[in-house]
Amino acid sequence: MKVQDKVVVVTGAGGGIGQALARRFAAEGARGVALADLDASAMEGLAGEIGALAIATDVTREADIQELVRRTEAEFGGIDVFCSNAGILTLGDEDAADADWDRNWNIHVMGHVYAARAVIPGMIERGGGYLVNTASAAGLLSHILSATYTVTKHAAVAFAEYLSIAHGEQGIKVSVLCPQAVRTAMLSGPDAEVATLDGVVEPDGLAQCVVETMDREDFLILPHPQVADYIRMKTGDYDRWLRGMGRMRSKFDAG
Ligand SMILES: NC(=O)c1ccc[n+]([C@@H]2O[C@H](COP(=O)([O-])OP(=O)(O)OC[C@H]3O[C@@H](n4cnc5c(N)ncnc54)[C@H](O)[C@@H]3O)[C@@H](O)[C@H]2O)c1
Repeated sequence: MKVQDKVVVVTGAGGGIGQALARRFAAEGARGVALADLDASAMEGLAGEIGALAIATDVTREADIQELVRRTEAEFGGIDVFCSNAGILTLGDEDAADADWDRNWNIHVMGHVYAARAVIPGMIERGGGYLVNTASAAGLLSHILSATYTVTKHAAVAFAEYLSIAHGEQGIKVSVLCPQAVRTAMLSGPDAEVATLDGVVEPDGLAQCVVETMDREDFLILPHPQVADYIRMKTGDYDRWLRGMGRMRSKFDAG
């Protein structure tokens, strides 16, 4: 799908990847771009720059997502592309606080569920649409320092797969964005050393990859192409892959 003349929503648009996507969609000639983020002030500059609608939204609240859809469609018409991109990173093993597990689940999974519920019926009625859900390479492989991130991003990939299976024949395209490290605020956390081991992609380069992959309508969007090899290695010999990841984790624990 080409983004030209389309109505596009991007959540997490106050942050690095969401901003780069929104800017790129505007440059591609989108008819309307709606920005959504918890942090309203973070969207102000970009909204002015590209003439976008900025709507304060908490993606963990279904009513907020419904309002985002209602206001976007009132302004620009039916939504063609919904990029469910908002996310957070918290580190920790199984002992992470229940509140962290809940927060990660609500943002990384329920945020995508609420978006799908809000836009799919209208998209089907209009003959189709495109959902671009941001997960992470950690949703296909693992983040060696975060159980909450790994598990909920796997669930995000699983939900995107399910949407494609359930609604592909009804004209709903689905892609899942699975980058490794991208140079955004998220990279400044205590896992930076591990996250950047395999190269850092700039947000603009990622946006280029998203637009090209949407054009082909491929399911997996892989700004780090080596991730495709890692998936093959993992599924080709699961035990070997787990041992390798375990060794990497031990090295980090040993400092
Ligand atoms: N940066 C990376 O290295 C990287 C790698 C893989 C995947 N990702 C994923 O990409 C997405 C975007 O991350 P980023 O790197 O741009 O990080 P970022 O921290 O720069 O931006 C994330 C944005 O999401 C917003 N947000 C958080 N919770 C929200 C909520 N409940 N409702 C609405 N907005 C909310 C934040 O305010 C922030 O503006 C996330 O889903 C992240 O998990 C990032």
